[in-house]
Amino acid sequence: MPLRHPQLNENGQLRHLLTIEGLPRELVHHILDTAATFVGVSDRDIKKVPLLRGKSVFNLFFESSTRTRTTFEIAAKRLSADVINLNISTSSTSKGESLLDTIDNLVAMHADMFVVRHAESGAPFLIAQHIDRTRGRGHVHVVNAGDGRHAHPTQGLLDMYTIRHFKGDFTKLTVAIVGDILHSRVARSDIHALTTLGVPEVRVIGPRTLLPGGLEQMGVRTFTDMREGLRGVDVVIMLRLQNERMRGALLPSAQEYFKQYGLTQDKLALAAPDCIVMHPGPMNRGVEIESAVADGPQSVILDQVTFGIAVRMAVMSILAQS
Ligand code: CP
Repeated sequence: MPLRHPQLNENGQLRHLLTIEGLPRELVHHILDTAATFVGVSDRDIKKVPLLRGKSVFNLFFESSTRTRTTFEIAAKRLSADVINLNISTSSTSKGESLLDTIDNLVAMHADMFVVRHAESGAPFLIAQHIDRTRGRGHVHVVNAGDGRHAHPTQGLLDMYTIRHFKGDFTKLTVAIVGDILHSRVARSDIHALTTLGVPEVRVIGPRTLLPGGLEQMGVRTFTDMREGLRGVDVVIMLRLQNERMRGALLPSAQEYFKQYGLTQDKLALAAPDCIVMHPGPMNRGVEIESAVADGPQSVILDQVTFGIAVRMAVMSILAQS
């Protein structure tokens, strides 16, 4: 019997969203198509839809966040859910309570969905496994909002939504991801999403010290020369230097990094003339990207943030129907 994907139920529906790796292409398209129906909600002046009425969504952010936490909250409220933002620093985990005991207590308060960001890779998976082991919890869903350097699936999905919005067909694109690939959960989720959606050429560009092993097996081409890697690309996704995850000296200096791998107008001129520029945020101006590019006509960085609301509405509404 074929193994069931741990995120899918016995009917092949999305039960939790933990990673993009292994998700069927049709399901990814279904999420993007559903998101498209929510982009119009605010345009049509419909403030809320009742798809999560009566449900409780718990935001559990064990790491800092601006975009992800806030857009999940907006998305859940637009779906009419009750949203509880657990204050981690004043919660019982700071008194030594285990993560899974905290989860059990929140389930006892009738939680229906957990949105989890954690510095440890695998923490959302652990929670989902724990929930699935106990009978009577089939209505409780887990969404990974970024775990360590492993995955950030809703960022990957909102990046795909943004690319589809501006570029249309995935199967004709060359996409470059630039920077700290080694520590980046966004890079991993984007690579899985792009290859799943049939992008024929995915390039990663970065210094050798920030390129992990095994990239070729993920179906990407690697470049250490940014000018070479950017030639003719349709989309460039810049990444933040993840200083908080770096151990030891992986880079000479921020100035040297900017010189080699910062996106400047002259480097962007090597890409296709209609190339779009993306960044998941938070941005380090003058380190990964110069302001003239970040704020320039090819930048879609703030569009990514806005589309994040519709994509997170789509994910939560699909989960609630499974
Ligand atoms: N892109 C992203 O995850 O940003 P936040 O850390 O602000 O959520």
